[in-house]
Amino acid sequence: MSQKNGNTDNQYTFKIFRFNPDVDREPYYDTFISGFPRGTTVLEALLHIQETMDDSIAFRFSCRSAVCGSCGMLVNGAPVLACRTQLMALTGDQVLIEPLPNMDIIKDMVVDMKPFWDAYLRVEPWLHVNEEDTPEKEYLQSPDEVRKLDPYINCILCACCYGSCPVLGFEENYLGPAAIAKLFRFMSDSRDRRGAKFLEKVNSPQGLWACHTIFRCIDACPKDIRPTDTIEALRRKLVVYRFKKFFHLLKQDQK
Ligand code: FES
Repeated sequence: MSQKNGNTDNQYTFKIFRFNPDVDREPYYDTFISGFPRGTTVLEALLHIQETMDDSIAFRFSCRSAVCGSCGMLVNGAPVLACRTQLMALTGDQVLIEPLPNMDIIKDMVVDMKPFWDAYLRVEPWLHVNEEDTPEKEYLQSPDEVRKLDPYINCILCACCYGSCPVLGFEENYLGPAAIAKLFRFMSDSRDRRGAKFLEKVNSPQGLWACHTIFRCIDACPKDIRPTDTIEALRRKLVVYRFKKFFHLLKQDQK
């Protein structure tokens, strides 16, 4: 322990994942030891290490306040936002920093988010409206309709759920929890007109049916969104839609 500006600093040992595919054959870990006062976040510690010990460490960040979603990484094996994770909240004084899994490494903790964004675009994450019922002023929603969306609207697309999903470890074309939760958010929106038929687009082993309901995405989400629940809800909706379609066709055949 050391005294600094009146604060009691705790000593931490950081083991930081390092890999630059352009230069390194294999990933390796660098160790840094430093003291930090209460209230220091993992991101602040990383910035301090970068500024004072090794300016070649690469990681993403922007807002420093759990809004932009850039600083997702593994801290002691758990996918978290570095800017929202305090050192004192970790068990012990060893801090293992690694990149989010399921994405290629560009450098150190900076991963290639392209597969994440590609999956996101596959669910068409915007309001689908009918030209005919476009209102003259704006779309109105009741407070109840907005409340229905509230639990899902806070997603900041940090990819912590994507990095935590074991299915993406062997099924790289899986849409992933964030994209499906976003689809649920739009399909639950009273202004969206795409209807259950849209779910045919994600009715595949790489779509709604890939999830093994392991719930890691729920544990990982820093915004308390429950992607597994949305996957289950959309599966139910799809099954009902297909039953209705089947019986409708059956009735037509019998006419
Ligand atoms: Fe923006 Fe962490 S820096 S979410």
